[in-house]
Amino acid sequence: SQVPYAVNEPVRLYEPGSPEVKNLISTYKKMWSEKLEIPMVINGKEITTENKERLVSPQDHQHDFGFYYKGDMKHVDDAINTALAARAQWNNLGWEQRAAIFLKAADLIAGPYRDRLNAATMIGQSKNVHQTEIDAACEFIDFLRFNVEFMTEIYAEQPVSSEGIWNRSEYRPLEGFCFAVTPFNFTAIAGNLPTCMAMMGNVVVWKPSDKQIYSAHVLMDCFREAGLPDGVINMIFTDGKETADKVLAHPDFTALHFTGSTSVFQSMWKQIGDNIHKYKTYPRIVGETGGKDFVMVHPSANAAGVATALVRGSFEYQGQKCSAASRAYIPKSLWNEVKEIMAAQLATVKVGSPEDPSNFVNAVIDQVSFDRCKKYITNAQNSSEAEVIFGGKCDDSKGFFVDPTVILTTNPKYESVCEEIFGPILSIYVYEDENWAETLKLVDETSPYSLTGSIFSQDRYAIAEAYKALENAAGNFYINDKPTGAVVGQQPFGGARASGTNDKAGSKMNLLRWTSVRSIKETF
Ligand code: ALA
Repeated sequence: SQVPYAVNEPVRLYEPGSPEVKNLISTYKKMWSEKLEIPMVINGKEITTENKERLVSPQDHQHDFGFYYKGDMKHVDDAINTALAARAQWNNLGWEQRAAIFLKAADLIAGPYRDRLNAATMIGQSKNVHQTEIDAACEFIDFLRFNVEFMTEIYAEQPVSSEGIWNRSEYRPLEGFCFAVTPFNFTAIAGNLPTCMAMMGNVVVWKPSDKQIYSAHVLMDCFREAGLPDGVINMIFTDGKETADKVLAHPDFTALHFTGSTSVFQSMWKQIGDNIHKYKTYPRIVGETGGKDFVMVHPSANAAGVATALVRGSFEYQGQKCSAASRAYIPKSLWNEVKEIMAAQLATVKVGSPEDPSNFVNAVIDQVSFDRCKKYITNAQNSSEAEVIFGGKCDDSKGFFVDPTVILTTNPKYESVCEEIFGPILSIYVYEDENWAETLKLVDETSPYSLTGSIFSQDRYAIAEAYKALENAAGNFYINDKPTGAVVGQQPFGGARASGTNDKAGSKMNLLRWTSVRSIKETF
């Protein structure tokens, strides 16, 4: 490799009482009462407006931790024009200079920015110390370092030449500006989408989720301190629909890098289609959208392994990981044992603010999410086909807290088995052991999504059968492990079907989408 060799950032353990956990919690407490004013950043300038929006923490919706300045369509125009104006100079800088900026950003997060970025994620997105550490710190550092390495591998790839002929590939940035639309649930994804496009020489208009403004602000500070030139990434806080209407109708729009809901992605794709005659070039479209991730259990499975995977895979970060387990299929012969172990584990799970690191489950992101979770729980409580066997308590008096909830259903097509909930709710269907093969088919057919999924079995024939039967049911497939926690460089992440374009985040496959190759033949 031509750049410092990428290795995964070691995860800080935040042992109870350790200095590192004390420091992080004291940073959290300090930042909690800071009363921030968060500006947009366009052309390297901090932009304030007359339109102030409250910043609210999911764990305490009465507490404003500040406000952000909301922009309008003039700011979208400014962001686009500024990006286009910065394009030539940014690209002429050359890849080594660009790489150095992103490697420095990774080092800043690994060091001086770590606590601030983690605390911002804890406050704004309600992640506990462990969940924020694997996301905002480690996963994002990994994205930056690995992507720089993948970028150099791409640029090094050249065609064969022969005597009298020199063939070259020139890796150009896309012609125009790129649009990054990012989600609340992973600070790492919010950081990755604009940076990996910029790394490849592109200029970017970045619209973070309005539920992730605080950590987006810290990321932007970090990019600027790392030396990112003005105009390369422009961060705007504007209305999503209006912004999409404007950006996607612009003749210089050249790429969409999106993570969020299936319906928004589909409507943006349609808009791009409707505008196709306006563009100078065909836009690249990369999206990661919904999921209804499964855990399929064979009678040979280890019950304790299954129970742990379900508790961690379904309830870490309140089930708001796109990869979270949300439906499980368990054979009757194993169910009692799995249920008992889950009961014992769930009895130790605490729900509350991330300020107390021992709270395993924190608040769901907002009122809409809380109401959606409550609706599925109430429906199950009133259904003849389903019952709530664990959890079910919802309390939004202070924060948006939903207890980890398990719905047991006799109908494998029951609503909570089929629909994406994005909260701490797991649905379980217990199948007759002899129906293993039919159940495999059911797993494949129940959901339009195909993001992550797990098979648990100690029987290699059964594993092989599931491997084949579920080959299109998950872009990230786990054998005897929970379906969450993909690590950059180890398990390239993404799914197909209604889950996205499967351009594997944190891989060469993804970075290739952000370059347009010119093939050059020179004869002597
Ligand atoms: N890396 C995240 C996960 O797999 C997206 O859960």
